[in-house]
Amino acid sequence: STLPTSKQFAQKDGFRFFMEKEIYEQSDVVVDCMLGRLSDDEILFDEIDKSLIKGINEIKICACGTSYHSGLTASYLFERLSKVKCNVEIASEFRYKEPLLTKDTLFIVISQSGETADTLEALKMAKAAGLKSLVICNVDNSSMTRTADATILTRAGIEKGVASTKAFTTQTVVLWMLALYFGKAKNVLGSDKLQSELHALREVPKSLIIDDSMHEKTKRLSKRYLHGHGFFFIGRDVFFPLALEGALKLKEISYLHAEGYPAGEMKHGPIALADPELFTIALMPQNLLYDKIKSNVEELSARDSTICSISPLDFDLSDDFIKINETDHYMLEFFEMLIALQLLSMEISVRLGNDVDMPRNLAKSVTVE
Ligand code: AGP
Repeated sequence: STLPTSKQFAQKDGFRFFMEKEIYEQSDVVVDCMLGRLSDDEILFDEIDKSLIKGINEIKICACGTSYHSGLTASYLFERLSKVKCNVEIASEFRYKEPLLTKDTLFIVISQSGETADTLEALKMAKAAGLKSLVICNVDNSSMTRTADATILTRAGIEKGVASTKAFTTQTVVLWMLALYFGKAKNVLGSDKLQSELHALREVPKSLIIDDSMHEKTKRLSKRYLHGHGFFFIGRDVFFPLALEGALKLKEISYLHAEGYPAGEMKHGPIALADPELFTIALMPQNLLYDKIKSNVEELSARDSTICSISPLDFDLSDDFIKINETDHYMLEFFEMLIALQLLSMEISVRLGNDVDMPRNLAKSVTVE
C-alpha cells in the first residue's frame, strides 16, 4: 500500500476527530499488533530472546496515566497466566520512594510516546540497579526504546488524540500475549488453557468492531450525564483498571469529575456519596465474578445512585444499559466495554462543546516532571 500523503494523513478520514478515527481503527491496528506474534500454539516475540526472562521470578511494571492502566490490567494477567509475581507502580511515585529492587525482577515500562519523563527516569533507575528492562512502546527510536534492554512495539500507528485510545488497546494486547509467552516459557500453562487464550486473542479484532447501535446508544446516553455531581466507574479484577481508564477518558476530555473504583470497595466509605445525582458506570462482565459485581451494583441502586451497566446481560436495577456481545472470555468483554467507555466519554465531551482532540491543560506527551 502506498503511504498516505501528508494531506491525506492530516484528514480525519471522514471522522469528526482524530480520537474518533483512532477509536474506530482499533480493530485494524490490533491485527497489525498481533501480526507474526500468534502461531497455532504459541506466542512469538522476535524482539526478545529467552535470556531476557531467564532467572526472572518477579515483574515490576512502571508507567503513567493510561499506560499505568494497561500495566495494572497486565498484573492480573501475569499472575493468573504465568504465575509470576507482578506489581505495578506509578512512575512519579516510584522515582522518589527509594524502591527495593532485586536482580531477579524484570522491569517493564509502558509508554505510548517513549518520552514521558517520569517513566524514563524510572527506567534509568532500574537499569542503574542492574535489572533487565523491557519497554512496551508505540514510537520506535524514542528515548525509552534506546534505553531499555529490549523493546516490543505496539504498532498502533501515530496516535494524535491527546486522550489515548488505540495505544492502550494495543498495550493491553501485547501484555496479554506477554503473559502467555511467560506462561509457556515457564511451563505453567497447560496446552488446553493456552489454546483457549490464543483463541480468545484471535477474536479481539472482532470485539473491537463498532456497530452503529452501540455508538448511537452512547450518543443518546451522553445527554443524561451532563449535570451530575460526579461519576463512579466500578469494576472488579481487570475491570477495575478498565474502570480507572474509563474515568480518566471522561475527566480528560469532558472535564467532569469521575473516579474509577474497585467495586467491592464502595461499601468502605464511597457509597456514602450515592444519590440520584451520582452516576455509576458499572462494568459487569458475564465471564468473571458476575454475581459479585451484581451485588455491588444492587447496594448502590438501593441507595438511589443512577446506574448505567455495561454488560452482555441486562438487569432490572440499572437505569441505563449498554449491551455488549456475549462472548466466552472476559478479556473479549474487556475490549467491548472499552469501546463503550471511549465512545461515551467522547460523546459527552462533544455535547459539552469541548475540544475532543486537544483538551485544555493537557499535552500528548509529558516530557517534563
Ligand atoms: C492518556 O489518555 C493520557 N493522555 C495520559 O495519561 C498518558 O497516558 C500519559 O501521559 C502517559 O503517556 P505515555 O504513554 O506516552 O508514557
